[in-house]
Amino acid sequence: MTLKEAQARHAELTEEIRTHDHAYYVLAKPVLSDREYDRLYRELRDLEAQYPELATPDSPTQRVGGEPLAEFKSVDHITPMLSLDNTYSQEEVREFVNRVQKLLPKQTLDWTVEPKVDGVAISLRYENGALTAGATRGDGSTGDDITANLKTIRSIPLKLKSNPRQPLPKAMEVRGEVYLTIAGFKKLNAERAANGEEPFANPRNAAAGSLKQLDPKIVAKRPLDVVLYGTGQIDGAWQPVSQVELLDWLGSLGFRTPGKMWHCRSPDELLAAIEQLDRIREEFPYETDGAVIKLNSFGLRERVGCTSKAPRWAIAYKYAAERAQTKLNVITIQVGRTGALTPVAELEPVFLAGSTISRATLHNEEELRRKDIRLGDTVIIEKAGEVIPAVVNVVLEKRTGAERIFEFPKSCPECGGPVSRSTGLPVGDPGVVLRCANSDCPAQVRGRIEHWCSRGAMDIEGAGEVLVEQLVKSNLVRDVSDLYSLKLDQLVELERMGEKSAQNLLEGILASKTRDLWRLIFGLGILHVGAGVAKALARAFPTLEELRRTSLEQLTDVEDVGSVIAQSLVQWFGETRNQTLLDRLREAGVNLNSSLYSPKSAEGPFAGKTFVLTGTLPSMTREQATAKIEALGGKVSSSVSKKTDYVVAGEEAGSKLEKAQKLGVKILNEAEFLRLCGD
Ligand code: IVH
Repeated sequence: MTLKEAQARHAELTEEIRTHDHAYYVLAKPVLSDREYDRLYRELRDLEAQYPELATPDSPTQRVGGEPLAEFKSVDHITPMLSLDNTYSQEEVREFVNRVQKLLPKQTLDWTVEPKVDGVAISLRYENGALTAGATRGDGSTGDDITANLKTIRSIPLKLKSNPRQPLPKAMEVRGEVYLTIAGFKKLNAERAANGEEPFANPRNAAAGSLKQLDPKIVAKRPLDVVLYGTGQIDGAWQPVSQVELLDWLGSLGFRTPGKMWHCRSPDELLAAIEQLDRIREEFPYETDGAVIKLNSFGLRERVGCTSKAPRWAIAYKYAAERAQTKLNVITIQVGRTGALTPVAELEPVFLAGSTISRATLHNEEELRRKDIRLGDTVIIEKAGEVIPAVVNVVLEKRTGAERIFEFPKSCPECGGPVSRSTGLPVGDPGVVLRCANSDCPAQVRGRIEHWCSRGAMDIEGAGEVLVEQLVKSNLVRDVSDLYSLKLDQLVELERMGEKSAQNLLEGILASKTRDLWRLIFGLGILHVGAGVAKALARAFPTLEELRRTSLEQLTDVEDVGSVIAQSLVQWFGETRNQTLLDRLREAGVNLNSSLYSPKSAEGPFAGKTFVLTGTLPSMTREQATAKIEALGGKVSSSVSKKTDYVVAGEEAGSKLEKAQKLGVKILNEAEFLRLCGD
């Protein structure tokens, strides 16, 4: 066979296999027998073995390929992946419609209703019709690059079908949900049980856990599927103008779209559709936890816009969460990293929505009193979406009189220290919270270290709850800076810790030294400082040192930082133990510079001025000088040109100084520079 003939045969085989994949996995209407399919597939594989250049990334043979990854790369979503606001009643659906109508007076509105698939949100990127990347939602603006994993899902087309009326966009992001069918979930759990592995709690956890695998070969074995219901950026001549048109178009490109969709023209029609969906959703092969209501017209969507979290033009209607009845045996107290005491119900184990529940949160003392929950009560528990199961109420008819009122401890059950009542802290806490006042309480110490190591913060692989407990118990780690002086021989002394895991842990800790500054700020667990605020701070300050030295006023100038957050920061940075902690982190070589830093260069006395730093300054580091310049609105460049306004020269300044002299650029020593800064 000549290369040309091979190419032609390759194209033919690819087309046939693609058509079959679409018919089988997307439309569930196979056109080939398994044997015929296998024969085509083998021929294609053999052909590519002979002509490796034909095995392009979009070839059907390339679904499961590559070596396991060390970690996922991050990808930015061009259009953010938002979430949805929830409603739980017909009333709220009507209110939602009224709200949108108010924003669009005089417009006749029409809506769509789709099942809310209970899976994992993903985004796919296609360039010129070929799948180039796939990502998780992550925090909405940045997710994990899970392309290799998503390629293993056969209902995700590697190449889009084109049609002459709607030319393929140059680039597009398609959004949807990866899920595990209920049947697939049961099968997977049965296999895991047989292998002595921990079963997944529910299909969504199983889907999420599967997509997190670093080895695509494992993912390929998981019965994952996908449904696509939206788009992000579309860079193309033709664009759909409504949800109805979009779903139609996605279908024609070869995607699986929601199996059922209602087009509604009034709130009554919406409510009827929601009810209908509730009646039939039991029969769907996947779990649904609600209905998604969307304004049909994209033009009108644009006019109502989005908040930072969710669109104003769509809403989720959540069906009543699954509930179960069981007995509350005991109440235990959990101490969190901020010292908050949370009562936890220890229950008679009960099966609920795919998993066995033996604990549920009681939130806090106030809730417990309000609901009058007593030891020995029969209670209703509920599992709603991502929330840990909660105790909803007591079944009063089942009271026997033997139930006892739970007394909150007067001292911390972990450290015996005093318990105080504080109000309103942290954000999201209810009115009054019982708190262990001893910040050396082992539970708090553990909580802080776990938080530091968590995936959202410094992301230290292997440092989970169990290990942190061991480290704290053995006194090896008292605060997070201690992690950086751990030694192999100390770790191997710990129970169930082999040399290999110890080595991995040390590598994980080492890797965390280079994390971006916002992760560190978040990881410190400062009251009110979540990941969003940490990022805002890292955008506003080039280094941790700058942030540490900043006044309350300057902090409140930072976007997204109000006075409560600013005060919390100032207080935290003011405490001696925290200062020591930060100094030790610096000494350990943990990165304290922010790559997110983007100064507001249009403002300040140095606005529009470019500086070049050269040589060693007597009293400040290059980072500090840079931070100063940027804080005053100036820019720092690495090379001298006619555009340079100032060169700040220290000792042993070399060629940059010479060039500045040649070009007649103003040269400053450190003292002159500081004077210019107004210091
Ligand atoms: S639209 C900008 N449609 O539910 C709005 N979401 O709780 C994007 N979901 O993040 C969402 N089925 O992961 C939309 N038919 C559907 C959906 C759906 C499931 C998920 C999605 C979203 C989450 C919000």
